[in-house]
Amino acid sequence: MSDAPDSPDITPAAVDAALDAALAAIAGATTTAELKAARGAHSAEGSPLAKLNAQLRNVPNDRKAEFGKLIGQARGRVTQALAAREEELAAAETAARLEAERVDITALGQHARVGARHPISLLQEEVADIFVGMGWEIAEGPELEHEWFNFDALNFDEDHPARQMQDTFFVDPVARHLVMRTHTSPVQVRSMLERDLPIYVLCPGRVYRTDEYDATHLPVFTQFEGLVVDKGITMANLKGTLDHAAKVLFGAEAKTRFRTNYFPFTEPSAELDLWHPTFKGGAQWIEWGGCGMVNPNVLRAAGIDPEVYSGFAFGMGIERTLMFRSDVQDMRDMAEGDVRFSEQFGMVV
Ligand code: PHE
Repeated sequence: MSDAPDSPDITPAAVDAALDAALAAIAGATTTAELKAARGAHSAEGSPLAKLNAQLRNVPNDRKAEFGKLIGQARGRVTQALAAREEELAAAETAARLEAERVDITALGQHARVGARHPISLLQEEVADIFVGMGWEIAEGPELEHEWFNFDALNFDEDHPARQMQDTFFVDPVARHLVMRTHTSPVQVRSMLERDLPIYVLCPGRVYRTDEYDATHLPVFTQFEGLVVDKGITMANLKGTLDHAAKVLFGAEAKTRFRTNYFPFTEPSAELDLWHPTFKGGAQWIEWGGCGMVNPNVLRAAGIDPEVYSGFAFGMGIERTLMFRSDVQDMRDMAEGDVRFSEQFGMVV
């Protein structure tokens, strides 16, 4: 029945043997590459089953159907086994790849650094709290201010030296009379014009002067301004208020003293010194700011009758206060914005 030396005779045993060998090779394939080899050896052209199939033409006609069915079934089972194994291996390979590429989404990420609030903001809020605690309100005004609010209404002469270009940032065109406010005192005038009497306001805010940028000066810095206008206000009220603020900020031993001075918008005016009990260089008097009784001309400019009302005002620098309160040597550290500087003051929010 055979017509070629390498072609086995087509017998049920030969078909079974070829089928068993094919199924064993398929089952034994552990990778898709091995399965591809098994397909080539046991199913493709030239495989034992393909050769047996080719023998069909030598089978006598009356037995062709019987052998055809035998070999057809065998080839069908091989095709099925190949498909099933292929699916298994593909699934296993996908699972293996997923396992290898697994990302632990519950793992802790790299910690993001938390910033720190700026000590100027913190101190500004601390000061505001002292006065809000006494029932005062917080007042605000623009940093780009009209010359009238910054100087005229505050009783500055036309030719007062503070108005000079070497002290004040004038904004072009100069004819519009706009300046970067040189102090928070214009908010006194705005408060008197906008608010009902009596007035108890604290105004913290940024101010601008054409100062050098050095260890003790910044061209942009922060002040807090206090203003009270009420009936019967005296310098004793001013002194008591400032002593209270000094004690809250610098401890129970702290106190203030006045030295005569001149400001156009207060009369009498005083330089304000602070007794700093815990100063790094030893307890001592430190110049803290300016203060005085609101000049009657200022009250009048705001439409308030100085015969009925009187008031006091004070102004201090926040950067300066931070310097001697927290022993900061160089004011420029407060302007640089390096978080390592801010971190020293804690992470208070
Ligand atoms: N405005 C003054 C300054 O900047 C300080 C001050 C405020 C003085 C209020 C008296 C009253 O120097």
